[in-house]
Formats: sequence, structure tokens, C-alpha cells
Amino acid sequence: MPTENHNFAFANNPPIMTPPIDIPIELTTSSRLPEIDFSNLEFGKHTADHMLTVEYDNGVWQQPRIVPFGEIKLSPTSLVLHYAQTVFEGMKAFKMDDGKVSVFRMDKHYKRFLKSLERMCMPALPEDIFKEGIKALVKTDKAWIPNIEGGALYLRPFMIATEQRLGVKVSDKYLFMVVTSPVGPYYPKPLNMKIETEYVRAAEGGTGYAKCGGNYGASFLPTQLARQQGFDQVLWTDAKEHKYLDEAGTMNVMFVIDGVLTTPPLSTSILDGVTRDSILTLAPELGMTADERRITVEELESALSEGRVTEAFGAGTAAVVTPIQSISIRGNAYQLPEWNNDSFMVKVKNKLGDIRHGQEADAKGWNTVV
Ligand SMILES: Cc1ncc(COP(=O)(O)O)c(C=O)c1O
Repeated sequence: MPTENHNFAFANNPPIMTPPIDIPIELTTSSRLPEIDFSNLEFGKHTADHMLTVEYDNGVWQQPRIVPFGEIKLSPTSLVLHYAQTVFEGMKAFKMDDGKVSVFRMDKHYKRFLKSLERMCMPALPEDIFKEGIKALVKTDKAWIPNIEGGALYLRPFMIATEQRLGVKVSDKYLFMVVTSPVGPYYPKPLNMKIETEYVRAAEGGTGYAKCGGNYGASFLPTQLARQQGFDQVLWTDAKEHKYLDEAGTMNVMFVIDGVLTTPPLSTSILDGVTRDSILTLAPELGMTADERRITVEELESALSEGRVTEAFGAGTAAVVTPIQSISIRGNAYQLPEWNNDSFMVKVKNKLGDIRHGQEADAKGWNTVV
């Protein structure tokens, strides 16, 4: 198949729409809200009543709109279906104690979205469409934020290549959308992890740092195989030597080794997690020293066998922290100590929760009130 030339504005040269943008809202005439049982929510199963949608065509972003949630029309030759030009974000909106609604770390999510777009050769989305669009959408569907402890509205911004063509090429047309989903309190099940030393999630120079669909599709088989062996998830290692730890499937990984919060440094093969960044930022306030450095499987194994790893957990938007209870290294399973209310992971999770809900001052400006 021939590779065709393309011609459009790249992420580092964004076409900017002049603010303030006006976002027309078409409200639904039949809300699905009464059908939802907020006390029994499965992650991502239900979507709220509305969605944000905006098309990109001929180098220009078109009018953003909020419309009732519904199906979209896509040609079978839409480039995204064949060559996976698709990226997304995962973020949350919360109801604060004073009744206001806020979106957590919108700026960091926007910047990561831009990085993902650039890596996948997709045009930059203007900041005002992302931010004002999300604010307007969350405002429209604020009744969908579960009014229960730990409830949130999960936000899924995403962009896909929509040009109709079978030739391998960069798309000239895109669709950016935001859909949302009410989620309940997340009581994460402690994980049994396997260090992966056969399959690879991402290599340096690849797309590991981008939140693009292909990264996830490629991780399904190794994860499925690990599940068949009784593990919950795999812990990815570097692609060259399987020597250094990278991250987990949908979480960054953190350890407390010799009393120090230790996590692999950012690279082109791991995602720059917003939760990871928030935890590293808050650690000193909790009296914890943080160290971003390469961790070898060998080092982890000796530290585990010598009882020097007091905590291991995944960090991500869905659960904030997910405790790891065992790590299997080349067939040897190492157990982690039980966590309790004095564990760093519990304290930092509570602190983040307090900031998000306005129980603690938002000194870092992480909350955007809609
Ligand atoms: C591969 C991967 N790593 C890490 C994370 C954690 O990132 P964040 O804290 O921004 O949710 C995610 C979740 O989005 C992920 O998919």
C-alpha cells in the first residue's frame, strides 16, 4: 500500500480558535438518570446524558457542540479503524463539600493529551475547546456525579482519525469527543503481580508515553496469559533487557524501599501519570522522601527477600492507589506486608481525596471549579 503525503497543522503548531468560545448545548428530552442505581455502579458501564463533539477538517477546528449522548456515524474506511490513530485521556470531576463541582488537574491532562496527539501525528486540540468544553459538559451533567462517598464523574476525552481512505496515511479529518460516566467508590482489590520478562508493552522511542489505543490492545494478550496463571496484572519491564521496571497495565508503580518512596523515572516507554505526579508532589508534605530512579528487577528481588520493601502499589486515576500484595519474579512469589492507616499509600490517598473535595486547601491549584 502506498504511503501518501499529508499536509496539516501539527501539534506543535496548533490552530487556535479565538476565545471565548461559544458552545451550543442541545439538551436531551429523555434523561436516563432515573434508571441509574448510584449505589451499584460498574466502572464505565453507564454514560451520562450528554457528550461534547467537535470535528477537524481542512486544518480547521469546527464548532464544538454539546449534544445528547448517542451513536456516531463512521465509515468502514475511517483511518482510525485501520491504522489506530486514536488517543484518549482519563480524568475525574468531583462534587466538593461546599456543593461546587471541580475537575481534577485539567491542565496536566490537557498537556499529556497534546503530547499523545503529537506522537500519533494528530493535530493539536486548542486549549479552550478542551477546557471550556469539559467545563460546560460537566456543568450540563453535574447531576450525574454520584452524591455518595467516593463518587465521581469519570471523563473520557478522545480523538479519532475519521478521513475515509484505505491508503496508509495520516488522516486529514478528526473527531474530538468527551463522554462521561458516573463511577462509585473504588475499593481496589490488592493485586498479585507478575514481572513480565517475555512480552513487551513499550520500547524507548515507541509510543509508551502516549495514551494511544494501540498500547492497550497490545497489552491484552500478555495480561490474559498472566491471568490464566493466577495473576491480576503484569509489571512491565524495559524492552531491551527486561532488566528495569517500567509500570503496570493502567497504573504507574511505586514502592517504599528502605523507607523511601521509589518509582521508575519518566521515559518514552512509560505514561506520565497524573496520579504519580500528584503523589510525588505530596510526598514531602507527608514526611516521605521520594526518589525517581531506575529500579532493576534484581534490586527489587533482593529488597523483597530482605523485607526492605514495606509498600508496593499502583497509582492511577481510577483508584488513586491500588495495593500490591505479591510480586512474582521468575516463578518466585514475594509477599508484601499488610497495609494499615499509617501506610504512606493510605495517607496520600486520603490527602488527595481531601484536596479534591475541598476539605484541604487546594494550594497547588489542582481543582478547576466549573
Ligand atoms: C499505562 C498507564 N500508566 C499509568 C496510568 C496512570 O495515569 P493517571 O494517574 O494519569 O491515571 C494509566 C492510566 O491512565 C495508564 O493507562
